[in-house]
Amino acid sequence: MTATISEATRARFDQEVAKYPPEQKQSAVMACLSIVQQEFGWVMPEHERVIAERLEMPVIAVHEVTTFYNMYNQRPVGKYKLNVCTNLPCQLRRGAEALKYLEQKLGIPAGDTTPDGLFTLQPSECLGACADAPVMLVNDRTMCSFMENDKLDQLVDGLRAAEGKTS
Ligand code: FES
Repeated sequence: MTATISEATRARFDQEVAKYPPEQKQSAVMACLSIVQQEFGWVMPEHERVIAERLEMPVIAVHEVTTFYNMYNQRPVGKYKLNVCTNLPCQLRRGAEALKYLEQKLGIPAGDTTPDGLFTLQPSECLGACADAPVMLVNDRTMCSFMENDKLDQLVDGLRAAEGKTS
């Protein structure tokens, strides 16, 4: 996939920049990173360079944002990104077990993507729903609560079935 940022994407950057006073245009950095992730699936170094130029900030400052928030992908991910919370409150309520169960079910260690490109599995920082542990986030948008093994099976098998793949 090319890393080239289109004029349409640059126009989306401009819309975000316009939300802030000119001297605070750097405040649009997270929105611009989200836009490139939506369009390319992950944030490439070239994207960080273009965003830094647009926002008149150092490239390293953009990179610091990319690497601080684990919702930004720094490499290609599968069609379904599964982030399982393993912070302490969830650790105490089977969060780590949920991650391990998915490692076994998907046949990959956390951090990897299945060979068919369908799933990327990652540990996650607190998702703000500690009382619902084990919790996970699918594709940075869909929160799943109380993910015991049977619900993990339903989720993964359902997504596989939707893609025409059996477990
Ligand atoms: S520690 Fe897992 S959601 Fe807060």
